[in-house]
Amino acid sequence: MKGIVLAGGYGSRLHPITLAVSKQLLPVNDKPLIYYPLSALMLADVRDILIIALPDDIPQLRRLLGDGSHLGISLTYAEQPVPNGLAQAFLTGAEHIGDDSVALVLGDNIFHGNGFYDLLDAHSRDIEGCVLFGYPVTDPERYGVGEVDETGRLLSLAEKPEKPRSNLAITGLYLYDNDVVEIARGIRPSARGELEITDVNRVYLEQDRAKLVTFGRGFAWLDAGTPQSLLQAGQYVQTLEDRQGVRIACLEEVALRMGFIDADACHRLGAKLSRSGYGEYVMAVASEMSP
Ligand code: G1P
Repeated sequence: MKGIVLAGGYGSRLHPITLAVSKQLLPVNDKPLIYYPLSALMLADVRDILIIALPDDIPQLRRLLGDGSHLGISLTYAEQPVPNGLAQAFLTGAEHIGDDSVALVLGDNIFHGNGFYDLLDAHSRDIEGCVLFGYPVTDPERYGVGEVDETGRLLSLAEKPEKPRSNLAITGLYLYDNDVVEIARGIRPSARGELEITDVNRVYLEQDRAKLVTFGRGFAWLDAGTPQSLLQAGQYVQTLEDRQGVRIACLEEVALRMGFIDADACHRLGAKLSRSGYGEYVMAVASEMSP
């Protein structure tokens, strides 16, 4: 399965913070925001990942993440000159996807919770159709919303509806079979002029090929698109990291635990950052897991 991180967009709800820097480079506690969605793809065992971003932002993202080889993954970059909706990612990424399945994650989405790896492991193999992840929220009108029956089966999808038919937001992590490219080519821009991912998902739903997996209580899905949610995300991460002494979305640790790199390589990555607590943590994890 291929991966795409959609790190485009102007981050206009965060202006003026994002006038000169990409939203995905802003800190969420101890690391840049993009580490979180990227770690989600790595946990799904996706190693060939395209990052789509505005042309101005690509040099900095590349400076941060390079070609991914230090993490045992491949990272490539594609420009999104003008953000025209999330489904554009499948057109921009068509060549990258090739004839494979694909996992798309939005660059400002944070997923964390016990059992996340197992869920990904269970649903990312042999994808037929699409897999969407739902999460109950108090403000569904801000999101794509899924209506489900009592068994949890998906009945309808709506993008930012005024009167949501449920409290189930569709999160920014999506798994698709290869048909997604053709489906995205076939949809028309919405009233706000965008190629909506919800319209792509609705095609799968109409074909009865859309699966909805709901994250349960105790799971955290956060987006960091506004000053408030960015701060809340940072506080959430800080609270857990300080309390448990673990780091969330530490890419070097994820790469090590997924078997993409060995303990020596991980230790070397930590040593380069050794003056920060983050670097110390990477070295400690590497030493602990050293054979
Ligand atoms: C997008 C999608 C929406 C989804 C959300 C998740 O909205 O259009 O369906 O629920 O991401 O973060 P946006 O955040 O681009 O407004």
